[in-house]
Amino acid sequence: MLNKSKEIAVYVHWPFCAKKCPYCDFNSHVSKQEINYKDWEAAYKNEVNIEQDKLGGKIVRSIFFGGGTPSLMPPNLVDSIIQHIGKKWAITNKTEITVEANPSSVEIQNFKHLAVNGVNRLSLGIQSLNDNSLKFLGRNHKAKDSLKALEIAKKNFDRVSFDLIYGLPLQTAAAWEKELADAISLSGEHMSAYQLTIEKGTPFYSMHRDKKIVLPSESTLLNLYKITDSILKNAKLEKYEVSNYALKDAESIHNVKIWEGFEYCGIGPGAHGRIQKNNKWFATHKYSSPNIWLYKNLKGDSSLYKNDVIHPRERAQEILLTSLRLTKGMKIKTLFENTNITKLDTFINIDNLSRFKKIGLIHINHESLKITNKGFPLLDTIINKLLL
Ligand SMILES: C[S@@+](CC[C@H](N)C(=O)[O-])C[C@H]1O[C@@H](n2cnc3c(N)ncnc32)[C@H](O)[C@@H]1O
Ligand code: SF4
Repeated sequence: MLNKSKEIAVYVHWPFCAKKCPYCDFNSHVSKQEINYKDWEAAYKNEVNIEQDKLGGKIVRSIFFGGGTPSLMPPNLVDSIIQHIGKKWAITNKTEITVEANPSSVEIQNFKHLAVNGVNRLSLGIQSLNDNSLKFLGRNHKAKDSLKALEIAKKNFDRVSFDLIYGLPLQTAAAWEKELADAISLSGEHMSAYQLTIEKGTPFYSMHRDKKIVLPSESTLLNLYKITDSILKNAKLEKYEVSNYALKDAESIHNVKIWEGFEYCGIGPGAHGRIQKNNKWFATHKYSSPNIWLYKNLKGDSSLYKNDVIHPRERAQEILLTSLRLTKGMKIKTLFENTNITKLDTFINIDNLSRFKKIGLIHINHESLKITNKGFPLLDTIINKLLL
């Protein structure tokens, strides 16, 4: 039986930014025309209505406003979307509501308003505490702006997290250690540390191809990853996902739910969802183009670009892929309940599983399958070889 949980996670995508960062391949754009916020409000509401018709009554465990830069949305628009979701489904005092924010002065002014209207978690895109690195990353802000943003965020939100990017050209272990020490002195209960990834189609991709950007060597990157783990662990920020660290019980509920394989609904341009209906899983994908998405919703139409049934084996593999990112790993019973799969060997290469177990890269018992500390730096390779 598929898991018939009444709970759902809701992702809301805002596709605009003040400036496009040269490393970023998210569905984020600098709008060429003035944004008509009333139209966007009507469009989001239409999409929530359509999803509610499809899914029926649900308890919303989390809402995550991601982007793009959702902190650039007028706070009234954020309120209105939260309220509408609350009207159509049920928001409780346990619902985690996160907004991603950039540390610019315009957005800081909105923090209080957002907090008063139900946002209880802020995720700040600090990226670096070093002005030269911020310049290299093409960011609009300076380190001092982040300090100000953090100070105000901590006063307003129950929970505050921030993102850092490491593995920049010429970044030494000593420089990263210093940055992490500064970060810890500022941190709340959650931090994300992402290794810079060169994404196809971005300006960094061509610069990297043309050797204008040279990344640190594999061994340096591995060392930076290990340093991150150990310095943050000493500060009680335990790794709970490959790039995410938190004090006990302060993990991002929204992201953990999605990585564990629970049902989530994607609202907004390009948003993905995994929806259960009639004992089947569906992969949903909304039109990515902000203009097409807006046009369809303003007409009262569905903005679904794809709505594909996912075979139980394929869903099980997706859950393997995301839940192995978590240090607690994949709960075998939950996966079986969630997918109608009853045996691991229907979607996992059991020979490779035994091999990885023998050399200490993974740990498995009757409850869970998880990556060991030794295995984490090789996560992608391990997952690739586990998938049948
Ligand atoms: C969707 S972005 C949104 C946050 C916000 N717009 C910002 O940039 O501050 C989420 C996070 O992904 C990370 N990120 C985006 N592109 C990346 C890349 N190519 N390599 C590593 N991290 C990346 C950044 O740390 C960023 O904060
Ligand atoms: S990293 Fe954030 S601010 Fe930069 S383009 Fe991507 S979504 Fe926008």
